[in-house]
Amino acid sequence: MRLPVTSKVPFGGDYNPEQWPEHVWEQDYRLFDAARIDTVTVGVFSWALTQPAPEVYDFSMLDRIVQRAAGERRNICLATGTGAHPAWLARAFPEVTRTDFEGRRHRFGQRHNSCPSSPVFRQLSAEVARRIGERYADYPSIIAWHVGNEYGGACYCDLCAAGFRDWLRKRYANLDELNAAWYTTFWSHTFTDWDQIEAPSALTEHWRGPDHTAFQGITLDYLRFMSDAMLTNFIDEKAALRQSTPDTPVTTNFMGMYRPIDYHRWAAHLDFVSWDNYPPDDRSPARMALAHDLMRGLKDGQPFWLMEQTPSYTASRDVNPLKRPGVMRLWSWQAMAHGADAVLFFQMRASRGACEKYHGAVIGHAGRSDTRVFREVSQLGAELDRLGGALLGARTPARVALLFDWDSWWALEISDGPSRLVRYQQVVLSYYQALWEAGVDVDVVAVTADLARYDVVVAPVLHMLKGDLAPRLEEVAKRGGSVVTTFLSGRVDENDNAFLMDVPGPLGRLMGVRVDEWDVRGPEVVNPVRLRGGGKVAAQLVFELVQPDGAEVMGTYQADFYAGTAAVTRNAFGSGHGWYVGAGLDQAGVSWVIRQVLDRHELMGPYPDLPDLESAVRVTPEGERLLFLLNHSADAIDVPAPGAGVDLLTGRPVERGQPLRLKPSAVHVQTMS
Ligand code: GLA
Ligand code: ZN
Repeated sequence: MRLPVTSKVPFGGDYNPEQWPEHVWEQDYRLFDAARIDTVTVGVFSWALTQPAPEVYDFSMLDRIVQRAAGERRNICLATGTGAHPAWLARAFPEVTRTDFEGRRHRFGQRHNSCPSSPVFRQLSAEVARRIGERYADYPSIIAWHVGNEYGGACYCDLCAAGFRDWLRKRYANLDELNAAWYTTFWSHTFTDWDQIEAPSALTEHWRGPDHTAFQGITLDYLRFMSDAMLTNFIDEKAALRQSTPDTPVTTNFMGMYRPIDYHRWAAHLDFVSWDNYPPDDRSPARMALAHDLMRGLKDGQPFWLMEQTPSYTASRDVNPLKRPGVMRLWSWQAMAHGADAVLFFQMRASRGACEKYHGAVIGHAGRSDTRVFREVSQLGAELDRLGGALLGARTPARVALLFDWDSWWALEISDGPSRLVRYQQVVLSYYQALWEAGVDVDVVAVTADLARYDVVVAPVLHMLKGDLAPRLEEVAKRGGSVVTTFLSGRVDENDNAFLMDVPGPLGRLMGVRVDEWDVRGPEVVNPVRLRGGGKVAAQLVFELVQPDGAEVMGTYQADFYAGTAAVTRNAFGSGHGWYVGAGLDQAGVSWVIRQVLDRHELMGPYPDLPDLESAVRVTPEGERLLFLLNHSADAIDVPAPGAGVDLLTGRPVERGQPLRLKPSAVHVQTMS
């Protein structure tokens, strides 16, 4: 399906008027006017209000909230409210609460706490969604439906174990197939009846937590099942909404690089993707860019919504730093530069009590409009008003793809050996960082994506190799493209069983190498790698002993018994290349490899020597190119404009080569004619 229809970038966010008396709502809407807030997400935690008892539905409060928002001519993103279940439900049906990894059945409390396999939860959540859809479907102000909230976590109850067995029966034709996939002859695990299969937890296959398992195959399938089980919850509610609202787009808020949910398996079921951007710190704009690109890639480049971000600080961390002046605006524009068609906050007004009372909000407890945060929100609101619909629906014209794969992430991080220190996100980020610093647009896509439109495909730690990916990567190189992969790639098949061939398995032909041995060490051990052309970089954590089998050596180890042997290689394949990076190179090393590749395809961004100056391009449905420049450094940056066009923030013309001064946190957006 499609994105909500709007005439400009929706601006606003989560709003919980049910926490306040109505005279406060009055104040809220006057402040929303001042800040040009045109969109509210309401009802996200409304279940206890809308269904106060098993047989009782009461929409009087939600009616008032929706009527008020509609009367105030705001766009409404209406939630089904099922992210937290009511207390009576947990009391009446203890099975709706989750059982944790240690086997403890939880009681009422918290949120995001419903067992995804509970028939009562499934039925009642769908029923409340159905009633909400039926009741509000005719409001033209409702531009989107918001199902649940931040699906995640896991449950290990008996209902989930039974659901797991059903899921397995669909995946494997019979127990022989399952036993082979899970390699159960190891440690006497052969299953002779489906009922013998347990949910993998601290009580069964695991020790030292969810990542240490005796049977990767079982744990991996449970991760897949759990992601699918929660997806079923989303699908239940969406179907219930669809009974009365056939066209209004439906979403749920994702969380970027969130390990427990395979968003690639979910994406097709959402009409549009939305996500909540709460970076762990303010030191990595590239990590946020990567998450935006991943979210954009979920639906083949379709723009997404930034559903939540804090205007100032979060509350859930041990330390919750304040966004410095200009940073909220800068990060909002970063989201738009990477494909966001909406900029929304959590939250409009700060809660008075409970765990989020210190979470930032557009309106604080004193209800003032003369705060710095409110001023910055208002300024952005005014800017988005002026911008109008200029970027809606615009797409990213990337020639570079970075493959992101939840199965590889899971398989790598639940593996015993070679090293627990190799973390999927860190390695992926280091390759993305190199691309980001070079200023090149990147699509972050699933391994099943069509690769025909890319000149460069980067596949860091592609641990698990599924389906026909290897030949499709070969195709990329054959027609002149470059494929980059790294250590610990091509190791296992989709069941997490090793390939019975040389490492890197089916990637070996394209890479022109073979790996018989690998050394892994703690972070204190550095093996320098000398790159072709003379530079020296550091490698840590993983040192695969790469034996060229047709590939040229591009980097060699400098220490240990394998000093002088290959760490980085490049293989001519068709009219393109396969690059193999066998060592855990530092950022300089990774950047060197990436820049060799980008240079060959002439894909460097306009300012490759200014790593903190982010650049991104979107192309509107009318074919207009929009260039975004974002200064993430603490210093002003002076650059010549890379092309002529119109500055979309000032309306003034821009000449090619005209000096641009970008102060810290400055944003420049222009058309490129
Ligand atoms: C999440 C949730 C919100 C709120 C914010 C706070 O994104 O969806 O309900 O708890 O975090 O940062
Ligand atoms: Zn359960």
